[in-house]
Amino acid sequence: MSYVTLGIKGVDSLLDGKGVPRGSSVLLLGAPGSGKTIFSLQFLQSGMAEGENGVYLSMDEDPERLLANAKQMGVDLAKPVKDGKIAIVDASPIRLLPAKIKLGGAEVGGHEFALSTMISSLTEAVKKTGASRLVVDPISTLIVHFSDEYTRRIAFLDLIAAANKTKCTTIFVDELNDAQLQRPHVFEEFLTQGVIVMSKILAGSTFTRVFSVEKMRGVAHDTQPHPYRITEHGIEVFPTEQIF
Ligand SMILES: Nc1ncnc2c1ncn2[C@@H]1O[C@H](COP(=O)(O)OP(=O)(O)OP(=O)(O)O)[C@@H](O)[C@H]1O
Ligand SMILES: [Mg+2]
Repeated sequence: MSYVTLGIKGVDSLLDGKGVPRGSSVLLLGAPGSGKTIFSLQFLQSGMAEGENGVYLSMDEDPERLLANAKQMGVDLAKPVKDGKIAIVDASPIRLLPAKIKLGGAEVGGHEFALSTMISSLTEAVKKTGASRLVVDPISTLIVHFSDEYTRRIAFLDLIAAANKTKCTTIFVDELNDAQLQRPHVFEEFLTQGVIVMSKILAGSTFTRVFSVEKMRGVAHDTQPHPYRITEHGIEVFPTEQIF
């Protein structure tokens, strides 16, 4: 099997020094402000050194603001974006889709339209850039369109299948509400090959940011929680330090 390094300080050593299986889909679950976006952009940035182009489907944030924020955290993507090596696709209009849409004479469900729009935008952007790394940030924007767990599951499976078809190594960002080590699992975790969690815990009277690889099929990965930091140089995980 071939592997793709994530290129974020301290992370690949938790992944047996190899990274994640090439072409796999990884769920990046995290609390608000935990660094999911910067992690994903660093993943695309590190692809540059490997000659791997990238696509980032932005579901919530305006691409300009996203790039400006990233730059503040040491991830300057202006050049690769300008050179067409990284595409930031603004998919935020999907949020605004009503429950029903008129397409020609027919009425279509807004959620189905949202899904097919996402799939066609990512497929097109990957083709255009020749990308082999893909990020969808966050998938929650799509998931909320679906009212019950069954259809949410089918929608996410369709999205995973579309990502697989591009052959890209993919990060699906997902929002975690209950940012504790003990938490109920969300269905998305069962559907991807890997799950990485960024959360925080109250240790004594201070919050500590906690990073863990919860699953990675095909990799003998570390399973322990480790502290991490967000600085002006991006994310750094401390693989030899324990939380407790
Ligand atoms: N220069 C900096 N130094 C240290 N930490 C920073 C710096 N800039 C931002 N941060 C931290 O990074 C967080 C934002 O990172 P990021 O946008 O990647 O998080 P996120 O998990 O994607 O958030 P959201 O849930 O809003 O999408 C901020 O909440 C802040 O805690
Ligand atoms: Mg974000």
